[in-house]
Amino acid sequence: MKKIGVLTSGGDAPGMNAAIRSVVRTAIFHGLEVIGIRRGYSGLIAGEFQKFNQRSVANIIQKGGTILETSRSNEMLEVKGRRKAIDALLSQEIEGCVIIGGGGSFHAAQDMGEESDIAFIGVPGSIDNDIWGTDYSIGFNTAVNTALDAIDRIRDTASAFERIFFVEVMGRKSGFIALTVGLAGGAEHIIVPEIDMDIEDLCQSLRESFKRGKRSSIIVVAEGNTVDDTINIEKYVQMRLKVETRLCTLGHIQRGGSPTAADRILASCLGIAAVEGLLNGKKGHAVGEVKGEIVYTPFRDTWEKKKTIDERYLKYIPVLSQ
Ligand code: F6P
Repeated sequence: MKKIGVLTSGGDAPGMNAAIRSVVRTAIFHGLEVIGIRRGYSGLIAGEFQKFNQRSVANIIQKGGTILETSRSNEMLEVKGRRKAIDALLSQEIEGCVIIGGGGSFHAAQDMGEESDIAFIGVPGSIDNDIWGTDYSIGFNTAVNTALDAIDRIRDTASAFERIFFVEVMGRKSGFIALTVGLAGGAEHIIVPEIDMDIEDLCQSLRESFKRGKRSSIIVVAEGNTVDDTINIEKYVQMRLKVETRLCTLGHIQRGGSPTAADRILASCLGIAAVEGLLNGKKGHAVGEVKGEIVYTPFRDTWEKKKTIDERYLKYIPVLSQ
C-alpha cells in the first residue's frame, strides 16, 4: 500500500481533528502518501481531494469540529452513488481509506469494500457513544463534560427558584450521554431510550421528594427517549403537579468545543491503530478500545450489535438523589 485517504463522516465530534492528525502523521511516518477528503462522502463523490503532509495537521489537536468538514450523504445508500465514490478513490490511486464516523458511515464503507478492492477501516467518532466495538467513541467524553458544565449552572438557578428543570441532552437512539451526565450532575431522574418509563411514576416520585422537603430537581432526558417529546413531558408534569417547571435543550452545544484530554488520547491511539491495521492487511473493520486494549471489529457488528447502557446507574440515582 502506497497511498491512503482519510475523511470524516456523519455527526462531527470533538476529537475528530486529533484523529485526523494521528492518521496523517502515522501514515507519513510509515512512508505512505495521504490524501485528505473534504466534506465526507459528499466531498468524495465530488472529488474534493487535498494532498496532506505533516504540517497540514499542525495545531489542530485542540480544535473542535473537523478540519475536513463532514456530511450525511444519501447518495451512498445507492450502488450508483457508491460507484462514483469508488471511482473517485481509484482516480487518485487510493488503496486504503480511513473513515472517521459512526455506524452509518461504516455501513457505506462496508458496501464499498465489497464492491471494490479498496481497503476501508473505521475510526469510531460520535458523541452518542452508541458504536459497538469500543468502550468509548471519540467525542463522547467531551460532550459529557460540556453537558455537565451546563447542568451545574442550571442547578444554581433551579435551586434559587425552587423549580423542576428538564434538561434534554443528545442521543438519538441511546442514553449514554444522559446516563453519564445525570449521575455525574446529581440528577434526580434520567429518562433514556433503552428503558421504558411511566410518566406517572415520575410524578409520584417527585411528589414524594416534595414531601421530603426537596424543592428543586433536575431531570435529564435523552432526546431519543420513547416516552414523549421532552416539551410534552415537561408540560405533563407541570399540569399534574402544579409546580413551576422549565425546559433547557442543550442541543448542538454538546457537539462543539475543544476535546478533553481523554478524547485527544483516544483519537490519537485509534488513528495509529487504523493506519497500522491497514498496513497489516486489515480491511472492513473498525478499530476500538475495549478494556484498554486495541481491538478490530467487523464493520457489520458496529451497527448490528447493540451496546448496552450501565443500568446500575439508574438504580443509584434514587439512592443518591434523596
Ligand atoms: O452525532 C450524533 C447526533 O449528535 C445525535 O445525538 C443527534 O440526534 C444528531 O447527531 C443530530 O444531527 P444533526 O446535526 O444532523 O441534526
